[in-house]
Amino acid sequence: MIRPILIHPDPRLKKPCDPVAEVTDDLHQLAKDMLETMYAAPGIGLAAPQVGVMKRVLVMDCIKDGPRRPMVLINPRLLWASEDQTVYEEGCLSIPEQFADVTRPAEVRVEWLSLDGSVQEEQFSGLWATCVQHEMDHLEGKLFIDYLGPLKRQMITRKMVKLKRERARQD
Ligand code: NI
Repeated sequence: MIRPILIHPDPRLKKPCDPVAEVTDDLHQLAKDMLETMYAAPGIGLAAPQVGVMKRVLVMDCIKDGPRRPMVLINPRLLWASEDQTVYEEGCLSIPEQFADVTRPAEVRVEWLSLDGSVQEEQFSGLWATCVQHEMDHLEGKLFIDYLGPLKRQMITRKMVKLKRERARQD
């Protein structure tokens, strides 16, 4: 089931999420819905707070061509980040049609719980590294526009307020 994606500004996008205590059937359904919502958007990553669920869960798939690689990360934890930095023009499904350069570590090592209850670990680079860091930020209530200067951030926020007003009128 595709779930509605919250649009910034929304208090739920600014709050740290709670750790997942147990992998339940509800969590399986949440992960499935999040992947469906992400692919439909379309996007390469989605964090649970973006669908209003304040839990430490994110999904991503950064494969552009070729077979899908849907990933579900529960309680992700950063183990290591490279000193090497990289710049990507980031966007966010909660901040539609706005893009800006963000500098982040080029490579990160992350540990997480998978849906089958096992602990996984992987080193991400390229777009995957940027994506996983962007999504992990969501779990702390942080958005990519928080890396920008105040003027740029306020400009984008004003556009989003307007967009939400227009969408509310259409409903
Ligand atoms: Ni995002």
